[in-house]
Amino acid sequence: MRDGHRQAVPARMALAALLSLAVLASCTSATPIARKTGAAHDIGTPLTGEDLAAWNIDVAPDGRGLPAGSGDVATGAHIFTAKCAACHGAQGEGGLGDALVGGQGSLASAKPKRTVGSYWPYATTLFDYIRRAMPYNAPESLTADEVYAVSAFLLNQNGIVPADTRLDAASLPRVVMPNRGGFVADPRPGQL
Ligand code: HEC
Repeated sequence: MRDGHRQAVPARMALAALLSLAVLASCTSATPIARKTGAAHDIGTPLTGEDLAAWNIDVAPDGRGLPAGSGDVATGAHIFTAKCAACHGAQGEGGLGDALVGGQGSLASAKPKRTVGSYWPYATTLFDYIRRAMPYNAPESLTADEVYAVSAFLLNQNGIVPADTRLDAASLPRVVMPNRGGFVADPRPGQL
């Protein structure tokens, strides 16, 4: 039994060595996927403006990077019910996901409740966050109009904008969040 065991190991090793040779051979003989660059390593393709635009979706606090489009509170309410309420509660009061509404005036108390309405300093961050991360189960699936609308709905739920508000790239940066003064500026160069 012991001998049989000893012999089995080299046999397995030989098989493993053969397999890795086979893999190596198939790699070296494979045709490169793309030959557009002409660069030394002959791999990859140059990024197009379109490729970059799909990734470059950050919105700055002052609104730089906001896309065209617009959305109002009433439309946002429908979208919220369909795509957000299951996790955040019918009115944004929280559930499986965070509370998005309420908590204003609680930050300095023993039980601070940090929500979009009570804590976030910029309304533009709400747009940026929803666009890239929500719905949690389908990030980046909303159109710009839908993100404007659902942002308007959440800001209205928090009492920050009136019910007849329609938000776009010009009006969203002008929304003043209640906790705007609750943060200190970042002294690093280039920060807002
Ligand atoms: C499947 C559940 C789910 C759905 C659906 C969902 N969310 Fe969320 N949401 C979460 C979770 C979980 C977090 C916390 C994520 C984290 O901290 O990384 C979150 C965080 C957030 C936050 C940040 C809250 C904070 O104070 O940090 C916002 C804003 C938000 N969601 C908005 C939305 C909107 C708008 C929709 C609908 C378009 C939506 N969510 C749909 C689960 C969900």
